[in-house]
Amino acid sequence: MCASRNRTGVDVPVITVDGPSGSGKGTISQCLAEKLGWHHLDSGALYRLLAYAALQQAVPLDDEEALVQLAGQLSKSYQLPTSEQPAIMLDGKDVGLDLRTETCAAAASRTAALPAVRQALLAWQRHYRQSPGLIADGRDMGTTVFPDATLKLYLTARAEVRAERRYNQLKHKGINVDLGVLVKEVEARDLRDSSRKASPLMPADDAVILDNSDQDEALTLQQVLQAVHEAL
Ligand code: C5P
Repeated sequence: MCASRNRTGVDVPVITVDGPSGSGKGTISQCLAEKLGWHHLDSGALYRLLAYAALQQAVPLDDEEALVQLAGQLSKSYQLPTSEQPAIMLDGKDVGLDLRTETCAAAASRTAALPAVRQALLAWQRHYRQSPGLIADGRDMGTTVFPDATLKLYLTARAEVRAERRYNQLKHKGINVDLGVLVKEVEARDLRDSSRKASPLMPADDAVILDNSDQDEALTLQQVLQAVHEAL
């Protein structure tokens, strides 16, 4: 991440964008970051990267201690992608597409349920809070990682709409999946993410909740920009 190092910490504004998979939070967050000229933290990419590295190194997905150690190593070497360097590099290899598969997402969701893993990723995520501001997207950005955010958004949509969006996103990236299988995988991941004890997926009490099941991205962006305009 090419963040300027001149200001970092709690005085830097943060807008959090949480929600389940396929709710459009990634695209909306990227647009917002570009419009405001702020940094963007895709926290799901950190969970996916950890899971991917664990799979590569045959670290069991329930071995908290080994996963925490691995997270510590990754946080020292990994750089979030930027507009100048959009690739997600791990050990000199672009792993962007590998991270997008549902296999990796399901592994990320398993490791993300472990409290010690979530704790290990806290400081890593907070490190990205750098001047002039941060758009942070994920599941617990507003509830746990940045509870003092200036604005908390929670995007959601009906499960079947989200599964279809994921299907189209994956197809667009050249990843072949069966829609029926994907619906089941997305439902299982949502259930695990929202029912875990440690920082479950849920809107913060002070979040602005937007259900975008029956509208296009342009309208959602318009509503989000309105909320941002009112908050800043
Ligand atoms: O957002 P994305 O689909 O890339 O996230 C992959 C998985 O990582 C989620 O299903 C969830 O289990 C986990 N995650 C999380 N907390 C976050 C971001 C992602 O638990 N803040």
